[in-house]
Amino acid sequence: MARALTREVRASLDAEGAARSAAAEIASFLAAGEETERVTVVLAGGSTPRGVYHALAGEHAGRIRWDRVHLFFGDERCVPSEDPLSNYAMARESLISRIPVPDGNVHRIPAEIDPPAEAARHYEDSIRSFFGRGPGGPPPRFDLVLLGVGADGHTASLFPGHDALEERSLWVAAVHSAAVVPPWRITLTLPVLDNARQVFFVVTGAAKAAVVRAILRDAPEARRYPAARVRGRERTVWFADRAALGDENPWA
Ligand code: 6PG
Repeated sequence: MARALTREVRASLDAEGAARSAAAEIASFLAAGEETERVTVVLAGGSTPRGVYHALAGEHAGRIRWDRVHLFFGDERCVPSEDPLSNYAMARESLISRIPVPDGNVHRIPAEIDPPAEAARHYEDSIRSFFGRGPGGPPPRFDLVLLGVGADGHTASLFPGHDALEERSLWVAAVHSAAVVPPWRITLTLPVLDNARQVFFVVTGAAKAAVVRAILRDAPEARRYPAARVRGRERTVWFADRAALGDENPWA
């Protein structure tokens, strides 16, 4: 499948607008699928997606056959699942607890397993089992991957300059980064994230404007940003507010 080289940009005036815009597009994508086939979504972590999930679970929930939807996670912090730092806890509070998605359709990263490399193995095994894949072979193709972007250009838990960025065979990696709290994370790797049908980034706030500008302009300095290395095979859409778009925004 040829890769969609362009990045679509959906500009909103503020963070709430960006969240609602992304939620509407996600709902349209999920509602458009064939009645029978399952659809796989990788949820983003951090704080930005909270508004997206609230909107998705609110005004859009009735449009979606949640029994067809399987929810995975792009990354997870190595904390218990009820810890406020957990991406699963954030998604459960803002989305999962508000929609009729079957428990068996929620594929949580067991990041409480120690050591983290073991947690990564468990999650990779569960993804392989879901897609019916044995050892080796090409990475899975998720239907939709949602991602955030850090002010340093990281995405999921793939950080600039980190060894995990060069991982080509593992689908799930354990990552240690002293730059974040908690330092241990479990993350999908680039071969998986960069193989999805559609990729939606949701990014807001002036702190990210330099990174967003570099990526959207394909500037040379963007090569070091992990978020620049993920595109959808069919579509890549950046949902951003005016602050994150800086002088890229249509109101500039
Ligand atoms: C995480 C996310 C991470 C996040 C960015 C942006 O676990 O924190 O996977 O990649 O998307 O750090 O975070 P905010 O949305 O909080 O700005």
